[in-house]
Amino acid sequence: MKIRESGMPAENLWEHFFDPRKILVVMGFDHSIANAVDFGCGYGTFTIPASKLIKGTIYAIDIEEKMIKRVTERASNENLKNIKAMLCDFILESSGMEDQSMDYAMLFNILHAEKPEGLLKEAYRVLMPEGKLGIIHWNYNPETPRGPPMDIRPRPEQCIKWASDLGFKLESRHNLNPYHYGLVFSKPGGK
Ligand SMILES: C[S@@+](CC[C@H](N)C(=O)[O-])C[C@H]1O[C@@H](n2cnc3c(N)ncnc32)[C@H](O)[C@@H]1O
Repeated sequence: MKIRESGMPAENLWEHFFDPRKILVVMGFDHSIANAVDFGCGYGTFTIPASKLIKGTIYAIDIEEKMIKRVTERASNENLKNIKAMLCDFILESSGMEDQSMDYAMLFNILHAEKPEGLLKEAYRVLMPEGKLGIIHWNYNPETPRGPPMDIRPRPEQCIKWASDLGFKLESRHNLNPYHYGLVFSKPGGK
């Protein structure tokens, strides 16, 4: 079941709203990360640069076949061997990732879902103890050039509450100018 308002504009339009590599560095992507998962990877806007920052494999999941094809094509064009793009509906099925197998879970521009808690729960399940969760989303400001309608667009405080209720610990908050905010959480150790 595709998440509401999760259709994408053309790739070049979408990608001019971000500086993905810069955002990923701010959000804690570096060589200490072995495995990462990008929930709802879209065109691979963040998957591709993330694959160059981590030491392991990034799993890119999307419900749209054309997105999976595009990520695979981009990985192949750049000869990136550490990207696994997978067609999957992570709302109706599980993401297919093993329990406690990931160092980093990305929920980027996706938490305006009907049931965001379900997605956060799946991220919690697949993360190793002390693994990181990164959330980015459009600022809660109707003047952003895109983004979900305001009535379903989550405020950072709302994301913090959802994640904290599940046991995530907020590590840092970021202003990802010009249009986004970022939140980094950790999963407690030993769980
Ligand atoms: C707004 S886009 C964000 C893409 C990417 N995270 C980014 O920030 O560039 C949301 C993506 O989630 C995907 N999606 C929506 N519902 C999904 C589901 N149930 N399972 C897997 N992917 C889904 C859409 O196809 C779309 O590519």
